[in-house]
Amino acid sequence: MNPPFIAPSILAADFARLGEEVCSVLEAGADVIHFDVMDNHYVPNLSFGPLVCAALREHGVTAPIDVHLMVQPVERMIRDFARAGASWITIHPEASENVGDSIGLVRDLGCRAGLALNPGSPLHLADGVLERLDLLLLMSVEPGFGGQEFIPSTLDKVRRARARLDERGTPARLQVDGGLSPDNVADVAAAGADTFVAGSAIFGTKNYRDTVTAMRRAIEQGNSTRAAG
Ligand code: DX5
Ligand code: ZN
Repeated sequence: MNPPFIAPSILAADFARLGEEVCSVLEAGADVIHFDVMDNHYVPNLSFGPLVCAALREHGVTAPIDVHLMVQPVERMIRDFARAGASWITIHPEASENVGDSIGLVRDLGCRAGLALNPGSPLHLADGVLERLDLLLLMSVEPGFGGQEFIPSTLDKVRRARARLDERGTPARLQVDGGLSPDNVADVAAAGADTFVAGSAIFGTKNYRDTVTAMRRAIEQGNSTRAAG
């Protein structure tokens, strides 16, 4: 079982002080920085690109940067983000002409590869590449905006994804993204996720350390429920 990772989404950070925000949330105990890239094409919103990722590296950020590409096409952004210092790069299958080739490109460029499934996308979309994934991301909101409510049916999908990854014996991380908070993260951990993205629930609070700690405790509680069940 992978150790749990908490991945704050900087989509909810104060962009005017982004470097400082990233350092604060890492000091507060976060494991990974989740970097939501939106292109006003694959999703109806526009966020930030590789220059911002490179700027965070230049600012001294050494923690893994987990780039979630909600863009179409994907190839050029994969190359640009690999060059900009991304650690993980996750794509959506609908945005790629050939998912296997895109995953291969991410890995050839020395990054870890992820595949993201929207709430309505079936798990079998990942089947052909499961063994080559470092991360399977299940969206628990429709991609495009932060601050939405967690879709409860995600829990069952997380359980099914956990079973599928275990059956195949792959160590890929199982990430859940959207609407997570200290109040629901125990259930998500109990269902079998190990990587937890939270934007507004962390950056919307005054004390990041308290929130990250509350999330970590809830995750531990969820993991013990899972171990017991
Ligand atoms: C949605 C993004 C999420 C989102 C998470 O398209 O992928 O990462 O920003 O934000 P919260 O935690 O506010 O739902
Ligand atoms: Zn995301």
